[in-house]
Amino acid sequence: MAVPHLTESPPVADTLEDLFGSHLSGVCRRTAAALESCGYRSLLVHSGSLRPIFQDDRTHPFEVNAPFKVWTPLSDVPDCFVHFVPGHRPRLLFHQPTDYWYKPASLPEGCWTGNFEILPCADLQAARAALPQDLSHTAYLGEDFGGLAGWAGLALNPPRLIRHLDYHRAVKTPYELACLRAANRLGARGHRAAARAFAAGGSEFDIELAFLGACGQREQELPYNPIVALNENGAVLHYQVLEKRRPAQHHSLLIDAGAEFAGYASDITRTYARESGEFADLIGRMDRLQQTLCAAVRAGVDWREVHLDAHRLTAEVLAETDLITCSPEEALDSGITSVFLPHGIGHLLGLEVHDVGGFMRAPDADDIERPENHPYLRLTRALEPGFVVTMEPGLYFIDPLLAAARADWRGPLIHWSRVESLRPYGGIRIEDDLAVTTTGCENLTRAAFGAES
Ligand code: GLY
Ligand code: MN
Ligand code: MN
Repeated sequence: MAVPHLTESPPVADTLEDLFGSHLSGVCRRTAAALESCGYRSLLVHSGSLRPIFQDDRTHPFEVNAPFKVWTPLSDVPDCFVHFVPGHRPRLLFHQPTDYWYKPASLPEGCWTGNFEILPCADLQAARAALPQDLSHTAYLGEDFGGLAGWAGLALNPPRLIRHLDYHRAVKTPYELACLRAANRLGARGHRAAARAFAAGGSEFDIELAFLGACGQREQELPYNPIVALNENGAVLHYQVLEKRRPAQHHSLLIDAGAEFAGYASDITRTYARESGEFADLIGRMDRLQQTLCAAVRAGVDWREVHLDAHRLTAEVLAETDLITCSPEEALDSGITSVFLPHGIGHLLGLEVHDVGGFMRAPDADDIERPENHPYLRLTRALEPGFVVTMEPGLYFIDPLLAAARADWRGPLIHWSRVESLRPYGGIRIEDDLAVTTTGCENLTRAAFGAES
């Protein structure tokens, strides 16, 4: 079972197991408050179901439900439940079938398990039998698996309760920060190996294998499928192809890949040029731009302003590098920067790579709007101590966006011969994970790369 031993590789603070206890107490406290304000007496969280492949006897790779990972560091255990009644120790109904086709999961071990009452359950009927007869006033989080209809009384995925729970996931506990640091250390290790595979002339597939090997994780254990893009493929924001052939020439690598530790994700992007020259210089500029943005991150900052600042700085880079024919001010006013930077500047990070709660003013209030004309920003809240966010400016040469701009009134504002000369390199993204503090932020990713080197 892929349960990280909380005291093992990668090296983490000795206190991680101790931190889990206070983390779980905090989860219990905030869950009890959410249940009370939404009128429920207990919570039942499902880890998720194995989903069969159409007309096949196999299943899709298992993806654990994030609300279950809030409670335990278990990530490959279908059909488990956490049952929480405020004032009582949470119970873990642990699915342990009798099976000889697949290896049944062993009961979890480690100090964190002492915080739970753990009951092995051979099947869903056994899990139901372990629960109270009366499930009214119990909120259920998870998918509607076959047979759930018979579990009378449950309130299925109540939206208001989910908002109350999700809102508080933005602020990480010391345990969660320790896990996110460890996920960054693993991710940095993978990135170093990927950079070496690129320098050795590897294919996208070779580079991904190097990343996986160095992280010690198979693809389904990662928080998202790595984006490994050579040359012009870097212009596809979530490029997924993983070409097995080596290209005739290596110009650039954009790799966006993270690792997972105890259910927590890192989300890291680096861009490399094979040769020194104009594209390498542009990477250097984007790295400085990213560091300027990181330096302004602290509690109280409105993330929408960070996003708009990224566009101001991008406009300056576009003017300085002669990619536009207009001033930075005109580039901003005309929206030309969005042709080169069409995604949000960052998002909350935690148990999910695009973590929940990015727009909530408060659990029971409306959402905070995105800035006009910036539809892909995933975080609009003001930063609070304990938020973990990504900072991921980019500059890309994306054919469909460029073609649309060329065809309308924006055409004359872009220096097309300059775009043509950089198009074979695809694009640049530099992405770090930042833990927000009252006075600034801790760059989890740069610290991890520093420790790696
Ligand atoms: N890896 C996806 C993202 O950066 O948001
Ligand atoms: Mn990201
Ligand atoms: Mn990313």
